[in-house]
Amino acid sequence: GKPIRVALLGCGTVGAEVVRLLTDQAADLTARVGAPVELAGIAVRKPNKHREVPAELLTTDAAGLVASDVDVVVEVIGGIEPARTLLLDALRAGKSVVTANKALLAEHSGALFEAADASGADLYFEAAVAGAIPLLRPLRESLAGDRITRVMGIVNGTTNYILSGMDATGAGYGEALEEASRLGYAEADPTADVDGFDAASKAAILASLAFHTRVTAADVHREGIAAVTAADVAAAKGLGRTVKLLAICERVTSASGEESVSARVHPAMIPRSHPLAGVGGAFNAVFVEADAAGEMMFYGKGAGGAPTASAVLGDLVAVARNRVVAGRGPRESAYAALPVRPMGQT
Ligand code: NDP
Ligand code: HSE
Repeated sequence: GKPIRVALLGCGTVGAEVVRLLTDQAADLTARVGAPVELAGIAVRKPNKHREVPAELLTTDAAGLVASDVDVVVEVIGGIEPARTLLLDALRAGKSVVTANKALLAEHSGALFEAADASGADLYFEAAVAGAIPLLRPLRESLAGDRITRVMGIVNGTTNYILSGMDATGAGYGEALEEASRLGYAEADPTADVDGFDAASKAAILASLAFHTRVTAADVHREGIAAVTAADVAAAKGLGRTVKLLAICERVTSASGEESVSARVHPAMIPRSHPLAGVGGAFNAVFVEADAAGEMMFYGKGAGGAPTASAVLGDLVAVARNRVVAGRGPRESAYAALPVRPMGQT
């Protein structure tokens, strides 16, 4: 078939691994998609820094690359602008979008979903929550016929790495954070991880998909781990517990039958016998409860270049295949306007 041309926006921790997988697995990807998947260009800020990729593909003109003859735009820049404008332009022009950008989705998913549904383009973002773990497509597709009641788990690798380190060795907080940044887990600004903003963005995305509504990061009650001390971790240990940063999204039905959504992120002391207690390092784990399916647990690597690129590539194969067969993934612009319950309200 006619090649599927891909614009890659960003070539950092995740983007560099996307290029590597695309190159190493070109033949397999062609077979899975039904057409060759071609990298048309890579937008970065400082081309001289990127000796590992072919120089002729690099550009600093991300908008020009999006507007050029490409079928799919993969965004791994991060942050709100210019990512928001670039992706809206791509979707409005009917180009499929794959993004790992949870901060953007947690604020502007409404506009992005509407642009995608208006032009019939695909918008996939598996890498935005829980890195490599297939979680969003199960929520959007496999469980689309069920009624999800709860999604709860560890969705930030950096804070889990720090808390696991503090629990195992009493390691200093600063030292563990430095290591998480070095390993490519932390965000460009690690306060997004430590203060719970990253987990709150992910909770907003999970709640929106699970409950077919619109929840933004501002709707999520948020407490980070900055106030967790070595003494807290030691005290938890003494009680047979460990401290984990949890994201909890629930469907709540009042006595009068009115439904709302509650989403929150905060550190919690959990018993060592709980399955989440054993989730160490940059691993993530998420429990999903649905009426018919019952309980499920999703576990795996939640951060890092290669695991995240795996999820990006999976999305790329899906959207490229959809273009080959003139098909389309899930629609999200039709949603129920469920109110979000403020914390503490019963
Ligand atoms: P990095 O900071 O490592 O990379 C960002 C890349 O974007 C760099 O190549 C940078 O260019 C480029 N860039 C920045 N601004 C612009 C711009 N205005 N125009 C063109 N290119 C630009 O980030 P990560 O790879 O870690 O993260 C990328 C995205 O993936 C983020 O949304 C993040 O939240 C998400 N993510 C990251 C995970 C991880 O474990 N790292 C896991 C899951 C999601 P240059 O290199 O020239 O500076
Ligand atoms: N900074 C994020 C984390 C990257 O530590 O989980 C993965 O989304």
